[in-house]
Amino acid sequence: MNNDLSRRAVLFAPALLSVASAASAVETKTDDVQIAPSKILVAYFTRSGNTRVIAGTLSRDLDADLFEIRTARPYPDDYEETVEQARKERDSGVEPPLLDKVRNIRDYDTVYLGFPIWGETAPSAIRSFLRTHDLSGKTLRPFITHGGYGVGSSPVVLASHAKETRIEAPFVMEADQERRTLEQVRIWLSLVAR
Ligand SMILES: Cc1cc2nc3c(=O)[nH]c(=O)nc-3n(C[C@H](O)[C@H](O)[C@H](O)COP(=O)(O)O)c2cc1C
Repeated sequence: MNNDLSRRAVLFAPALLSVASAASAVETKTDDVQIAPSKILVAYFTRSGNTRVIAGTLSRDLDADLFEIRTARPYPDDYEETVEQARKERDSGVEPPLLDKVRNIRDYDTVYLGFPIWGETAPSAIRSFLRTHDLSGKTLRPFITHGGYGVGSSPVVLASHAKETRIEAPFVMEADQERRTLEQVRIWLSLVAR
């Protein structure tokens, strides 16, 4: 019996050795493995920065690449002028040229897409982004900020501009610091600067 055991041990020894060497080869291989570049993109459009805060957090926590969507022609600094321009762009359906595009969009499996609601829908820059970036076969995770009136028709815009994309339910947050700030400042001015 003992002999059998030792014989078996001898018979198995080369196999064990080869398992051990295979394991060490695997270990060596694992040591050599390069960290794959991020397959997650966080793309966002913002005016007053609310959406940027979320985008920055996502990019840090997910170790994802970050891309700010900007139009070639910047929007006015003035809030009301921007509201007016956004309304016109929504009604005309214009898709303004972007300043830059994500050259390696193919490399990403998942795109987090963030934007504020403008005129009860997605800003025209988001339509431009979706028109100029092929997201088919990818997962799209929208994150949306609004000033208290909800996401409006933005889900319809996403669905119509990213047809072959798996669009998940959006993260939605109310954030309206700019309008509230303007209101508070105007109240203050109406009291002191008459
Ligand atoms: C041009 C413009 C249009 C807006 N239209 C709406 C709207 O229709 N509904 C709404 O709830 N908020 C509206 N807002 C408020 C923004 O969606 C909200 O404050 C958002 O968080 C701003 O994001 P940002 O700081 O990333 O630019 C509008 C803001 C701007 C500047």
